[in-house]
Amino acid sequence: MIIAIDGPAGAGKSTVAKEVARRLKLLYIDTGAMYRALTLKAIFNKIDIKDEEALVAMARDSRIELKETSSSLKIYLDGREVTQQIREPRVTKFVSEISQIASLRRIMVELQRQAVRDNKGAVLEGRDIGTVVFPQADYKFYLDADFKERVRRRFKEFKALEKEISLEEVEQDILKRDYIDSTRQCAPLRKAEDAIYIDTTHMSIEEVVDKILSYINLDVDKLKN
Ligand code: DC
Repeated sequence: MIIAIDGPAGAGKSTVAKEVARRLKLLYIDTGAMYRALTLKAIFNKIDIKDEEALVAMARDSRIELKETSSSLKIYLDGREVTQQIREPRVTKFVSEISQIASLRRIMVELQRQAVRDNKGAVLEGRDIGTVVFPQADYKFYLDADFKERVRRRFKEFKALEKEISLEEVEQDILKRDYIDSTRQCAPLRKAEDAIYIDTTHMSIEEVVDKILSYINLDVDKLKN
């Protein structure tokens, strides 16, 4: 079974997708983490974010692994754990620019499809899962929330990581990423026509998870009859 969960930053995708995957015993794939890992490597290697050729060569030469433990998802880049580092503001700042590059996206999309083939299904979370990566997904959801609420959530996440960042900086970052992610030429963020739209502004994580599962359980019941 393939479940696609898309939406902008701070809509609650990661926590929700992880929990949905856990409850359904499916693999969880955080595709944003893959773009973040590449961005981190570009920073490490001091690659100019405008140098497409160098970035694509770097991506081809990278090993990105997502390893699930019982309590979390760990991200490895070329064998080294980078779970915390990819969440740093310096990565967040450039990730949208790097993920605009079509040839680099093709490499990531192929990795995502391969992971699903190997595991016979997954819950994937990102920006283009329902539109590009798996347009034939069994279930598609598009999570959204009011801008202020999305900023508040991301700010809280940075604080939990003890990162020095102001609310205004988070606001500017989300504004900029929303703009780049939704206006880029290749695989822009948008709701697939057949995706179920969920406004999470006033919902708890559990409520969103239950809502998603209610659609899935409904169909499972239908199949039984
Ligand atoms: O979900 P996130 O904030 O970790 O994603 C980081 C960035 O990666 C996001 O701003 C755009 C990019 N991204 C993408 O282009 N396509 C995806 N499927 C997932 C993320």
